[in-house]
Amino acid sequence: MRYLDFIRKQKEYVPPADIPQKGHIDQLFETRTLTRDALRYLLESEDERTAEYLFFKARIRQKETFENKIYLRGLIEFSNFCRCDCKYCGIRKSNGNVQRYHMSREDILRCAELGHMHGFRTFVLQGGEDLSYSDDDICRIVSSIREKFPDSAVTLSIGERTKESYQKYFDAGAERYLLRHEAAAPELYRKLHPQAQTLENRIRCLYDLKSIGYQVGAGMMLHAPGQTLDDLITDFFFLQKLQPDMIGCGPFIPHKDTEYRNEEAGSVELTLRVLGILRLMFPEVLLPSTTALGTIDPMGREKGILAGANVVMPNLSPRDVRKKYMLYDNKICTEDDAVQCAGCMNQRMKAIGYRVVEERGDAPRKVAQMCRQKSEKRIDGA
Ligand code: 5AD
Ligand code: FES
Repeated sequence: MRYLDFIRKQKEYVPPADIPQKGHIDQLFETRTLTRDALRYLLESEDERTAEYLFFKARIRQKETFENKIYLRGLIEFSNFCRCDCKYCGIRKSNGNVQRYHMSREDILRCAELGHMHGFRTFVLQGGEDLSYSDDDICRIVSSIREKFPDSAVTLSIGERTKESYQKYFDAGAERYLLRHEAAAPELYRKLHPQAQTLENRIRCLYDLKSIGYQVGAGMMLHAPGQTLDDLITDFFFLQKLQPDMIGCGPFIPHKDTEYRNEEAGSVELTLRVLGILRLMFPEVLLPSTTALGTIDPMGREKGILAGANVVMPNLSPRDVRKKYMLYDNKICTEDDAVQCAGCMNQRMKAIGYRVVEERGDAPRKVAQMCRQKSEKRIDGA
């Protein structure tokens, strides 16, 4: 019932006369930026009128670029081996309770095939930093998917590599790369990761990926242990500098086998507010309504879309591995299969007035660039 109320409220929303912080939201809407103080006020405000007006303005920007389209990304969690030890992560190297697996190229292709049959036109290959796959292995996996499904895009999400490796994957046909920066505030980054993992290298990777020509996704967890609002604002400014094509941003959720097992999870309210702010700062960015948001609230993904997000990432991983890819506790959809997840997402989006489309869903900047290149070719050929 509360869910229906929430949806109805957004649909029938008319801005009331008195909205605290309206000036800040209007300024963000017009100029895409705000001062540190103004952002802090917006994040701190617990007034529902402020949040509703923020979401209303975010939906205006979202619809200008994407109408009511929602892009699907099929997530294939192909390995849970990881050489890293991020302190918040359930599949970190030092967690001895994880049953490790990696999928073969054939298994991965089978997932993509099933996804393609159900309308997916982007496949996200995500895994821990598993060095048992050589660069050639990764390239073969990417090129097989591209050959088999030329109308689809492949996104890689396999962590920090050298620029040379990134170039090889790109040449094999991977056009997008997700690498959340996790925390742009140096002290927080240091707290959340072991010494060997540095923010400098993370950032180096993001800029390398950009310079190669990938559509790049960065992002951070919200309410990560020790994160302050100022840290979060540092993330916003970092993202403004980087200008990524995608921003993955979900609540932190504790995992029982990590030192943060007793920490509080991020809230739905903060997550939605951040999504709204990001949509106004980056009107054209691809912004997922994450599984983590769906985990802390059964209607989280719908709420995320209504706050400005435009992407959903249902799981295409085989059922038998899903329970082994637990980045955090209580992750949703681990009992479902790919077909159920796709159908469920279609219905959920339809119920809130959006439609899941069978498209690659490239970044608008990239689409414009591709159109320009096509027309230049035509002129050259004429
Ligand atoms: N809670 C929420 N998100 C997490 N991630 C990793 N561990 C957690 C957790 N405990 C996120 C990280 C990573 C992405 C794949 O999942 O931001 O980049
Ligand atoms: Fe590597 Fe989490 S620590 S995927």
